[in-house]
Amino acid sequence: MASVLTPFSPPDWSNRLSHIPKYFVRLGNMNTPIHEWRLPNVPSGFKVYIKRDDMPGSTLSGNKVRKLEFLFADAIDKGFKNVITCGFIQSNFTRSAAIAAAQLGLKCHLLLVNCSANLTYEGNVLLDKMSGANIYLISYRPNPSKYGKNITPRMEKLAAHIKKETGEDSYLLPIAGANVVGLYGYIAAFQEMISQGILEEFDDIVVTCGSGGTAAGLCIANYLNQSKLRIHAIAIGDNKQSFMEHINDSIKEVGLGDSVCADDIIDIVDGYKGRGYGLSTPEEQEFIQSVSKNTGIILDPCYTGKAANGLVQELTSNPDRFQGNRILFIHTGGIFGLFDGKMDSYLRQRKHPEPVVLWKDLDDLSI
Ligand SMILES: Cc1ncc(COP(=O)(O)O)c(C=O)c1O
Repeated sequence: MASVLTPFSPPDWSNRLSHIPKYFVRLGNMNTPIHEWRLPNVPSGFKVYIKRDDMPGSTLSGNKVRKLEFLFADAIDKGFKNVITCGFIQSNFTRSAAIAAAQLGLKCHLLLVNCSANLTYEGNVLLDKMSGANIYLISYRPNPSKYGKNITPRMEKLAAHIKKETGEDSYLLPIAGANVVGLYGYIAAFQEMISQGILEEFDDIVVTCGSGGTAAGLCIANYLNQSKLRIHAIAIGDNKQSFMEHINDSIKEVGLGDSVCADDIIDIVDGYKGRGYGLSTPEEQEFIQSVSKNTGIILDPCYTGKAANGLVQELTSNPDRFQGNRILFIHTGGIFGLFDGKMDSYLRQRKHPEPVVLWKDLDDLSI
């Protein structure tokens, strides 16, 4: 069988970076489209566009696909047969890793934090299971800022267990793919976006910030291009300070620590976490439904719904935050999070203008 590894040709502007990966594996259908988005309640004067990183594939969708293209290439190049990763029960990253592993013939082991008493195969975890991932549940609710410290030793312990049982080594995929290898997903994505005209056609890029990995790739790429674009990352879990630390660490790791710091190249937007990571308010659910209904773009409750809501609110209450009026929102995927049962409860409770009726008359037609 031909190797799935494709040599990676970094864009010229990224040549000064260190840790440039040798290979990637193509997992998504790139280039993802950019089109105008009639996002409701955007103040007049602004134009919002959307980059469809929810569209690299049907189940392999979202920003994680780009990071995994480099991480799986690294694992395969180094000869690993097992990958281990972790996340909350509805993690989009673990779902993408499970599907990619099945496609590439690697064994996948997922450490999933599950706080509810029983496990139902809904949303992402259904796809984890369908992809044949080995699932190990942990039931504690970690403090978001200590999550990485708590979970990494557990992945190492699992790797030791697998080694003992099978003699095989495991490649550890970091939380949300946010390390120096995964970073290249959005370095490469930036080059794709340059070819789509972003440097000329937009003033600001807005993205969701979960681990900070996507934001780190984008702002480093934007800095290297000396572009006029401003990158805004809307925090949905942790706080601004920890994202700044993560991005500063990434800047140092790629060898730019003497030239620039996170503060110079990224705007982290706080204030849109709502009830906290993975929890929704009725207003956020209403927003997601309104966007689906009015634009046909389906956002997810954990990430993009909160970020797009934050975008509309910032454009309204804080327009000077933006460099100009041509805004590109990156849709980072997450649709399967909508199928965890919570949106279903919300839709049942809410009085909808669109009827769902049992229409007896239609039963009576004899066709
Ligand atoms: C759908 C979706 N959007 C955005 C993010 C945030 O991306 P990052 O972790 O790179 O900040 C994630 C995961 O964390 C995600 O699953």
